[in-house]
Amino acid sequence: MNSYNKYKPFPHFSYPERQWPSKTITSAPIWCSVDLRDGNQSLVEPMSIDEKMEFFEYLVGVGFKTIEVGYPASSEVEFQFVRRLIEEDRIPDDVTIQVLTQSREDLILRTFEALKGAKKSILHFYNSTSIVQRRDVFQKSEEEIIQLAVDAARLIQDIRMNSDFINELGQSKIQVQYSPESFTATEPKFALEICERVAEVIDPGPSDKLIINLPATVEIYTPNVYADVVEWFGNNFSKRKNIILSLHTHNDRGTGIAASELGLLAGADRIEGTILGNGERTGNADLVTLALNLYTQGIDPELDFSDITEAIRIFEKCNKLKVSERHPYAGELVHTAFSGSHQDAIHKGFVARNKLPKESQWEVPYLPIDPRDIGRDYTAVVRINSQSGKGGASFILEKDFGIVMTSEEKRQFGLIVKQYSESVGREVNSWELKRLWNQKSEPLVEQSSN
Ligand code: KIV
Ligand code: ZN
Repeated sequence: MNSYNKYKPFPHFSYPERQWPSKTITSAPIWCSVDLRDGNQSLVEPMSIDEKMEFFEYLVGVGFKTIEVGYPASSEVEFQFVRRLIEEDRIPDDVTIQVLTQSREDLILRTFEALKGAKKSILHFYNSTSIVQRRDVFQKSEEEIIQLAVDAARLIQDIRMNSDFINELGQSKIQVQYSPESFTATEPKFALEICERVAEVIDPGPSDKLIINLPATVEIYTPNVYADVVEWFGNNFSKRKNIILSLHTHNDRGTGIAASELGLLAGADRIEGTILGNGERTGNADLVTLALNLYTQGIDPELDFSDITEAIRIFEKCNKLKVSERHPYAGELVHTAFSGSHQDAIHKGFVARNKLPKESQWEVPYLPIDPRDIGRDYTAVVRINSQSGKGGASFILEKDFGIVMTSEEKRQFGLIVKQYSESVGREVNSWELKRLWNQKSEPLVEQSSN
């Protein structure tokens, strides 16, 4: 790997006025799920309308109030799905659907067509603003790229403000969202300028805010630089009070969650992402992790992931992908200790906790969340293999069979279990432990019951 000098570092961005490092997150942002569009566009096998419907109902149940339901002008399935949601009256009154479109007249018109009859909606339009796309893909100057966005904004504004059209659509309100796509590969000053020009056309006000979404379409910056740029953008946008500053991070460098969190510290109001992080390439920011990160800081995330198994089921069924065993909060192994010292600490932590009043705050070593809060039990917290110590085996026998050992019994039984698990070369389950205990320690059982 000696071709590293063919890559160039992301441009330096200096913002010594930054305030975000001394801020803390104290409340949930506005959440927007893009599972039904962004996730869908990245799937080997796209979702069917029925799968989208099941996913939509899951998202509503979890508590999402804004759901990007598709890119209706991109395909018939996407269009028909939006139509079914509206025609079958599937959208609760407190939920706003969002639809995506490129900044092209035919696509914008088709998008409005898809929205006919929706009570509330957000029309999300975008165009790429990055240096490389301006040069190589669009072959347009900065002013031409701005014009493209401004023309799209003008068309959208004319339609949404035209009372005949609104009556025909039967809509009460269409909010507008604009994304300078590839924001992180765009000069911040140019991104600011194009968003300002869009805002001039949309003319947002306190009751009709424009959503400006700053996507890390490809994650290029480290999260601290993304936060600097977000804070700088918010401080320099002329109509800041009349916009909702939204973030949409991807995970190319593996730091989409961190970028979203630092972006919130930097003043963003809203976060787009997906359940368990599906999305193009390495995926979008995972909203389960973001929400549970708030939860484990004592903040109400306003999303309910108390049944994590259902989140995994929907994710795996509709996306036809697997959740990794190491996935934060959701992975099969993330609440499990195999190592002896960890097991011992967890065991002692539970013993100490059991002596406290029920409502005491959670403090158990190695467990950042109480597995029961997300619908898991304590079965998997301690599992036994050859790396486990005496504490683990005794923890399981006590939990599953009420067998309480003395320290000496723990020591002796720990050795027996270790030897056994080395000889079988795999994990040892609770019943095997019970059998080993019965076989090998008859006299010890008698002693302990005395
Ligand atoms: O990643 C991205 O830039 C997007 C935009 C359309 C917001 O998905
Ligand atoms: Zn995206």
